[in-house]
Amino acid sequence: MIQFEEVSKRYGKSFYALKDVSFHISEKEFVLVTGSSGSGKTTILKLLIAEEKPTKGKVSFYGLNVHNLRHSDLPRYRQKLGVVFQDYRLIPDKTVKENISFVMEMLGAKDSDIRESVRNVLNIVRLRGKEKRYPHQLSGGEQQRLAIARAIVNEPDIILVDEPTASLDKENSKLVLDILKKIHELGTTVILFTHKQLKVSHAHTLTLQDGKLMHDSYTKEH
Ligand SMILES: Nc1ncnc2c1ncn2[C@@H]1O[C@H](COP(=O)(O)OP(=O)(O)OP(=O)(O)O)[C@@H](O)[C@H]1O
Ligand SMILES: [Mg+2]
Repeated sequence: MIQFEEVSKRYGKSFYALKDVSFHISEKEFVLVTGSSGSGKTTILKLLIAEEKPTKGKVSFYGLNVHNLRHSDLPRYRQKLGVVFQDYRLIPDKTVKENISFVMEMLGAKDSDIRESVRNVLNIVRLRGKEKRYPHQLSGGEQQRLAIARAIVNEPDIILVDEPTASLDKENSKLVLDILKKIHELGTTVILFTHKQLKVSHAHTLTLQDGKLMHDSYTKEH
């Protein structure tokens, strides 16, 4: 599904945020990309969603080189990916319900479908009853879950979540992780980028250090 082939990303003259990183992710995996701060996790996310270009190497999605996509093809490509950014990127003057429904409206969905999908994802992220609140009226954990709801409402092939539990306490971290596991069980590929050690049994773990892939739990060699 996703393939990184000897991907490097250089910023400035000589600083490598990623160096010769290769890995493969299959459909319906639960993936943890881990490593300390600055190790290159968000850089991988940005390359995947074609927000940045690799300096060297190839990133492909179902065999298609993501960085050869035409500008006009990018929106359609990005629709296949549900992204939750570390800062959530919620729209402050839209309610919970509107923050979710507008991404379906942009794709021209019918009102009745929107209502049903919004209800469905609010159930998944356990935000029923908070439809009319604005983001600033939500707790950090609720904002995180709203961002997840918005990322999954158009039924993407993959959900990518940057630091899902970084600013949450233990209880909320567990809730968010349980929700992401549930989304995985419902058939979506899940990729989490995290500097924390998260407990997910059978997860495909990619460990980064200073831009290098130190360990891939799905290959024998380290
Ligand atoms: N636009 C940029 N220009 C220059 N350097 C950058 C840029 N973006 C990232 N870097 C550097 O690349 C390295 C990797 O950054 P990245 O954001 O991928 O780390 P990370 O693993 O996500 O860290 P964190 O856990 O703190 O989010 C860091 O040293 C960072 O300072
Ligand atoms: Mg990061």
